[in-house]
Amino acid sequence: MNLNNKIAVLTGASSGLGSAIASALVKENTKVYGIGRNENSLHNLQKDLGPLFYPVVLDITNQEKLKDWVSSTFSAENIPDILINNAGSGGFGNIDELPESEWLTMINTNLNGMYFITSNLIPLLKKNPTTTHIINIGSILGNTGRAGGSAYCTTKYGVRGFSEALFKELRADYIKVTCVNPGSIDTGFFKSSGINSHENMLQPSNLANTIIHVLETPDNMLINELTVRPLDPRKPA
Ligand SMILES: NC(=O)c1ccc[n+]([C@@H]2O[C@H](COP(=O)([O-])OP(=O)(O)OC[C@H]3O[C@@H](n4cnc5c(N)ncnc54)[C@H](OP(=O)(O)O)[C@@H]3O)[C@@H](O)[C@H]2O)c1
Repeated sequence: MNLNNKIAVLTGASSGLGSAIASALVKENTKVYGIGRNENSLHNLQKDLGPLFYPVVLDITNQEKLKDWVSSTFSAENIPDILINNAGSGGFGNIDELPESEWLTMINTNLNGMYFITSNLIPLLKKNPTTTHIINIGSILGNTGRAGGSAYCTTKYGVRGFSEALFKELRADYIKVTCVNPGSIDTGFFKSSGINSHENMLQPSNLANTIIHVLETPDNMLINELTVRPLDPRKPA
């Protein structure tokens, strides 16, 4: 896909990897609808990135509001080319200690939210006369379990299953589906679980550039799954 003048919907644009993807897409002259709940962060990003970035203050777990936003923003004359499901919630705790609310937040954000936006946009993507692309951000914890990670692993294994089934379902409609499974990324994602990020983790801008590369592959070439790790994940001395 040539990203010039394309339209992308990106969830979780307000921080971390999402902000880096937004910035990389805008550099390629792609219009980005960046979704998140934190209005200030989205507006600050808009100041940095300029008019190609459209801040969208929305909770992806709110099915009704999401549906309204899709139908009031897009139409047969204004169809997105790219959907990046990046928004996520993460937390760790043994299964008999993890608050039920955290389990529900992870399932609602990482699985239901991804389903709500994807299922609402797919009828439009099917009408797009050119090849379109859905990228789902999974995790290496969608490939392997981790003690204390039952909720998060459940969701990220789910992201992989969703992506694999959709890739087979949507290829005939010229809709690519890619699942990107990163190792640890240098963002504040796991801070609330006491895991502090550091510079040896994957840098969001590097991962964003890899995602640009995946989007720019020729129309008849699909990278359906990608695992990306820091070579040396240890905290620098
Ligand atoms: N950091 C890592 O080590 C790591 C490793 C592998 C995979 N990942 C995945 O990478 C993705 C991005 O995470 P990150 O590291 O960049 O962390 P982050 O900076 O905490 O970003 C998470 C994003 O998700 C958004 N979000 C959360 N709940 C939402 C909701 N209900 N509605 C709309 N937006 C919501 C947040 O925005 P608001 O708060 O503004 O809503 C934020 O922009 C996640 O899917 C995560 O699972 C992260």
